[in-house]
Amino acid sequence: MKRVLMLLSNPRPGGMTQIVAEALLAGLNEGGFHADCVNLCKSDIKPCLGCYSCIPNSRCVHKDDMREILRIFTLADAVICVSPVYFYSVSSRMREFFERCFPLVGGERFMRCGKADTQVSPKPQKSLFAVSVAAGIDAALCANIEQMYEAVSKSLGLNFAGSVLRMESMYLKYPTLNPQKIGAIKDALAKAAKELAAYGRVYGSTKEAISARISKDDAEFEHHARLFWQKMRK
Ligand SMILES: Cc1cc2nc3c(=O)[nH]c(=O)nc-3n(C[C@H](O)[C@H](O)[C@H](O)COP(=O)(O)O)c2cc1C
Repeated sequence: MKRVLMLLSNPRPGGMTQIVAEALLAGLNEGGFHADCVNLCKSDIKPCLGCYSCIPNSRCVHKDDMREILRIFTLADAVICVSPVYFYSVSSRMREFFERCFPLVGGERFMRCGKADTQVSPKPQKSLFAVSVAAGIDAALCANIEQMYEAVSKSLGLNFAGSVLRMESMYLKYPTLNPQKIGAIKDALAKAAKELAAYGRVYGSTKEAISARISKDDAEFEHHARLFWQKMRK
């Protein structure tokens, strides 16, 4: 049975990142795939010390949850990273996770400008797919996220299956504002997880359906966004 590791980096329980993660998980369950779900924010992950002690023996000096997470990571056929967007990037917990993957790669990887083509795990063609969840509509300002995931995938020897942005996240919390579009987005998330697990890739049309614009125009978005943030203030 194919195994998928879902890595979450949302500190806030019950938020929009969790809604996205649940839709992805529903797809894995429907497809009969094995899913391991780890919230990095609930895990004990100490920051990389940059001490290079891991170079001689591929083992970090920290004795924390990363040992078990990396064991599951190595066994997985595919990895899905799900993060909220914080200041135009993934949340820091996702970054901390990747920094702690250094024992898997060693320094030479970074001499080759992310062009590593060998696997770090014995499983063939492990794929990485990512979804980042943002409140705004400025997708262009978040373009660096895809670049980062692609470079990280290459350095870890993973097949990069894509990175999508799910902007306008407040609509996920209030699906009655547009039930049809929210339903289609959740279906697309489930489909993406199944495609990733089955074929190691996610089709372009599925990615587009995940990122589809929800509001009919900027004015409608601003109206709903203002109401959302006002509600959060209370
Ligand atoms: C520290 C912080 C920084 C944020 N930065 C951005 C941002 O750069 N762009 C954006 O569209 N939304 C930003 N947001 C909003 C979140 O991305 C958005 O609300 C997301 O849905 C949060 O995930 P959650 O609902 O799982 O908590 C930020 C939120 C926080 C807490």
